[in-house]
Amino acid sequence: MTGETLISARGLSRRYRVRGTGPGAPRRETIALDDVDLDVRAGSALGIIGESGSGKSTLVRLLLGLDTPSAGTVTIDGRPVDARASARSLHWLRRRTGIVFQDPYASLDPRMSVGRIVAEPLWALDVPGDRRARVREVLSDVGLEADAAERYPHEFSGGQRQRIALARAIAHRPQILVGDEPLSALDVTVRAQILAVLRRLRTEQGMTLVLVSHDIGVVQNLCDEVVVMTGGRVVEEGPTEKVLLEPQAAYTRRLLASVPVIDPHRSRD
Ligand SMILES: Nc1ncnc2c1ncn2[C@@H]1O[C@H](COP(=O)(O)OP(=O)(O)O)[C@@H](O)[C@H]1O
Ligand SMILES: [Mg+2]
Repeated sequence: MTGETLISARGLSRRYRVRGTGPGAPRRETIALDDVDLDVRAGSALGIIGESGSGKSTLVRLLLGLDTPSAGTVTIDGRPVDARASARSLHWLRRRTGIVFQDPYASLDPRMSVGRIVAEPLWALDVPGDRRARVREVLSDVGLEADAAERYPHEFSGGQRQRIALARAIAHRPQILVGDEPLSALDVTVRAQILAVLRRLRTEQGMTLVLVSHDIGVVQNLCDEVVVMTGGRVVEEGPTEKVLLEPQAAYTRRLLASVPVIDPHRSRD
């Protein structure tokens, strides 16, 4: 079941000043995100698709207050997200959100034990309760052995490291989990396992998911809504099956032409 609007973006834009190519070239602007409106309902799973450079990562950074928009607003549960606010006054936002990136190794401090890595947000966000117990619990939730807490990131495979990154992202029980290509660096088997963990988080803990993925199969498996982006704009949005099986925008048709989309209701004969 999904409910009220949880995340809402209006007129969201982000421009970057970049140096032109060639000697003495003037600075110019890139428009990474261009006037995007977006609503994510509580308990839903939203997929964001589009080719590389279409603005997906920029969008999720702005939604989480990790970057400041050039124009527009983001609210979570009606509360304005202000990336420039102090760390302290962003506690409410950090408590409600967690993020997993593509490269699990880059996001794990190699000098810290897995237990400390996963517990760190609990300390940083003043989460009450038995933190050691919570670390054990969340490691088990993502399918790691309890003794993982005493070990170090380099002792794990890429897939296991992504489980650690996921445990860290959800240790404080965020309402919203954002994944920016969280499965893309993983091989097929591991991808399926972590996909199953994400599905479980959603059904058992009612987590709201926002998932950037270029893998249409992952989006079809996990998301009930999809937005399609190109050139910093949303060109199509709607229920996953509708968008993937009956794309309206020419861009979406081109994007999907290169990947097979399986219609679960049509028997192949
Ligand atoms: N820090 C930055 N400085 C300059 N340009 C950037 C920066 N981050 C992103 N961009 C540009 O903004 C556009 C959108 O990037 P991004 O949001 O990372 O796309 P995606 O995640 O869909 O691949 C791209 O053209 C990218 O080059
Ligand atoms: Mg990206």
